[in-house]
Amino acid sequence: MVQGAMREAECVLLGGGGRMVKLQYWQEFKRAMSYMKPRAWTYGIGIVGNNVIAALGLNILMAFIYKDIVNAAVGSDMPLLLRSIGTAFALLAVSSLLCTILTYRYNASIRYTMTDIRQQTFRHVQRLPMSRFENTHSGEMLSRMTNDLNTIEHLYADSLGGIIYAVVVGFAAAIAMFALNWPIALFAIALGILTFYVNTRFADSFRKINDEIQRGTGKMTQALSDVISGVPLVKMFSLGGVIIRKYDQTNEDVAGLSTKRTRKYAYLDSVNSVLGSLSFVGIVIVGGAMALKKGTDFGTVMAFIKLQGNIGFMFSQAGNLATDVQRVLAGANRVFELLDDPVEREGSERSLLGDEKKAIELDGAVFRYGEGAPALDRLSLAVERGQTVALVGPSGGGKSTVVKLLLGFYPIESGSVKYWGRSGQSYSLSEVRDMIAYVPQEAYLFDGTIEENIRYGNMDASREAIIAAAKAANAHEFIQEQPDGYLTAIGERGSRLSGGQKQRIAIARAFLKNAPILLLDEPTSALDAESEKQVQDALRMLAKGRTVILVAHRLSTVEHADRIYVIDRGQSVEEGRHEELIRKQGLYERLYRLQLKDAAG
Ligand SMILES: Nc1ncnc2c1ncn2[C@@H]1O[C@H](COP(=O)(O)OP(=O)(O)O)[C@@H](O)[C@H]1O
Ligand SMILES: [Mg+2]
Repeated sequence: MVQGAMREAECVLLGGGGRMVKLQYWQEFKRAMSYMKPRAWTYGIGIVGNNVIAALGLNILMAFIYKDIVNAAVGSDMPLLLRSIGTAFALLAVSSLLCTILTYRYNASIRYTMTDIRQQTFRHVQRLPMSRFENTHSGEMLSRMTNDLNTIEHLYADSLGGIIYAVVVGFAAAIAMFALNWPIALFAIALGILTFYVNTRFADSFRKINDEIQRGTGKMTQALSDVISGVPLVKMFSLGGVIIRKYDQTNEDVAGLSTKRTRKYAYLDSVNSVLGSLSFVGIVIVGGAMALKKGTDFGTVMAFIKLQGNIGFMFSQAGNLATDVQRVLAGANRVFELLDDPVEREGSERSLLGDEKKAIELDGAVFRYGEGAPALDRLSLAVERGQTVALVGPSGGGKSTVVKLLLGFYPIESGSVKYWGRSGQSYSLSEVRDMIAYVPQEAYLFDGTIEENIRYGNMDASREAIIAAAKAANAHEFIQEQPDGYLTAIGERGSRLSGGQKQRIAIARAFLKNAPILLLDEPTSALDAESEKQVQDALRMLAKGRTVILVAHRLSTVEHADRIYVIDRGQSVEEGRHEELIRKQGLYERLYRLQLKDAAG
């Protein structure tokens, strides 16, 4: 985010001298075009052909035909008149047909290329490390993946097409004018340069407004994603008003800016049309005078009027197109920044589980989130195959951090993590995650059916295996009571299920995954007593024959653990079995006594 802001500051700084901005974005332009490589020919021929035909066939050549038509009419030359009208229709028909075919072809290549870019972006985002998601607003990322990504499409289609068209039509018109009558041509080009000058006066302020609108749109996406992902919280704390006001404000700002931009465009349009009319009148007067003195004919004057419009178009669009390209490339740049973010480390060579007894070992592990005090401070712990080890201790002590480290969400700073007696580094991240089933405090469910959600544990599982997993997880009964059984859609994040039901679906998923290591992070702390019991039963089944690390808030649930670690301020301050720790009369015993007193009322 900081990086993005800096880039923006740079653009504004450089915005003063248009040429420097263009240089700055040259890399982005080349990169955007590189995605088109597999379809370069179709796209290139399509976009160039379409615009060249539109420019020459429908404008420049048409001007010459106008000339013949007018001269034929003035000179009452019937055969010439008919021939010219026929040619005009033929030209119109052929050009339109070719343009339609070419447009269809190059639009198809744009669609495929955009699909590639979207796919690549989506894949990349999934491989970004956990920390990237914690340090960035999800809306900011969404905005890059939607608003900004769409600007690339605009570049391929409208911006480049517009430039090709304006350049071809402008230059061809200039050449045609000189071929027809050079004194009038000089006069017409002088008018064009005047138009260009007037239009560039506006370009800078358009760029500024566009930048602000882009930023505002990004903020709106952020506000939206805040509201949507935080609905329960927003409702719980009656934050609706605050959020709505924030959103309204940005929305109004953007609307205000858009209105301002529209007003400016309208103003520029009317200036351009006045300039156009003046040019028209000027050419009629100059050309008419020459025609009367037999310096030229009326047909040529007619052709000039048409060509003048083309030159005027090039000059009036030059500024707009430059602004447009800059805006679009700034958007592309934000997408490329995202694509350049480093991803998690890639896998090493395939490796099998060792058959060591030590399933998991942390030795002197140090880890910190960003700057500041370490969240884990030389923490050591060991879990043997088949054991259940509990992590307990005050909130904020670092228990969840241990779990997340074991899942490979973060790399440690120093110390070591070992699985089956081998360094964590020697496994690829997907191998690490394949050998672990993880049940967090609140199950994460995806939009879709119950069956699909269980299947995420093992994409190859059969229907029968899914049902067996659900039965083992105490979930089969309530699933059958759902309106469509296993095929019931559960709503986004399982909003149509209770906490306990969601948790049992997550447990069924873990059953299906059948991983040797099980990480449970306060899996029942969000549940009421009734669902807690059902989930506990399911978990007990799941834990059988596996190596388990259980983070527990309620100490009564860990009394039977093979070993208990008390984690406080990132360190393991006590360890042992329940009875040993009670006898020790330390932190564990104190926490235990407090909870007993609470339970007693
Ligand atoms: N994503 C994060 N970014 C920054 N700090 C974090 C993050 N997650 C946890 N912490 C901090 O790390 C410490 C340990 O947190 P955590 O492992 O969640 O504790 P526990 O699970 O024992 O309650 C706390 O001080 C917490 O504020
Ligand atoms: Mg925690």
